[in-house]
Amino acid sequence: MTDAVQTPSNGDFTKRVFSGVQPTGALTLGNYLGALKRFVDMQNEDYETIYCIVDLHAITVWQDPKTLRDQVREIAASYLASGLDPAKSIIFNQAAVEEHAQLAWVFNCVARMGWMQRMTQFKDKAGKNAQNASVGLFTYPALMAADILLYHATHVPVGDDQKQHLELTRDIATKFNHDFGQDFFPITEPVIGGPAARVMSLRDGSKKMSKSDPSDLSRINMADDADTIAQKIRKAKTDPEALPSEEAGLEGRAEARNLVAIYAALADESVEKVLTEVGGKQFSEFKPMLVERAVEKLSPISAEMRRLLDDKSEIDRVLEGGAERARAIAAPILKRTYEIVGLK
Ligand code: TRP
Repeated sequence: MTDAVQTPSNGDFTKRVFSGVQPTGALTLGNYLGALKRFVDMQNEDYETIYCIVDLHAITVWQDPKTLRDQVREIAASYLASGLDPAKSIIFNQAAVEEHAQLAWVFNCVARMGWMQRMTQFKDKAGKNAQNASVGLFTYPALMAADILLYHATHVPVGDDQKQHLELTRDIATKFNHDFGQDFFPITEPVIGGPAARVMSLRDGSKKMSKSDPSDLSRINMADDADTIAQKIRKAKTDPEALPSEEAGLEGRAEARNLVAIYAALADESVEKVLTEVGGKQFSEFKPMLVERAVEKLSPISAEMRRLLDDKSEIDRVLEGGAERARAIAAPILKRTYEIVGLK
């Protein structure tokens, strides 16, 4: 048994966070408020933190090879500009650590067809033409389980939409441990929710703000400049009424709720508190306040992103160093997995 590899029999698992973002488009304010802010908080708490850019997941749908590498760098720039610190967190891209694909294969053999067939994200992403989706898109959750369990991660901050994949990760760990009679993999906890877990589209308050929405007006990108932010907020959908002074008044007003929630998250205040300040105001008065908050928060981040993307060598160095540290954790865990399964 490799000493570096922990199992419950030699003590509790280290509190270790793993999360990942796909390099399939520029990150939005929704990614920042819903995910990256929490990544930074957890980095500064008593966890080991590992943040990945999941390029192997990205190719489950076709990506232009030339833009893929740039998108990886762009996500890395968003991570760093948001406050992730390579001295505190391991930051790397998935393809640089080959063990991800290797453990994913083992998990493809642990997971059952029926489990995968229940995954709602596959159904959503494959759409009507599921027969034409890649096999990789179907087994995507086994790779995600491998990402997490390759580091014996105990906590995974994710959006609501990933909850089912986290449950599958727990099922895979449980079945593996049971099938091989070992308490080897931890049963990972999702870290879900929080004040701004769901930032909605600026054009439709019932849809999540998404980096893949065809309309750029539906989102604020982390790299948008002040004029673009102002223009998008000015055009954001609203309703004709004034803002309420209590939360109950947001009932049935998805767009109003969304804009107030964004304001609150940017100001680090509760929706309740914000409404005591802005209740009674018209959107014509509230929107400029929101623009000011958004620009104040995002302009230092987008400026730093531009600086980083201007000369890619710093990002490439961070990714390389991160991959090396990631491999140092992953390799003994994969090796032990192979031994447990009876491989080599
Ligand atoms: N599936 C996640 C998403 O689309 C990305 C992801 C891949 C991930 N591997 C992960 C998230 C491991 C958390 C942990 O958002």
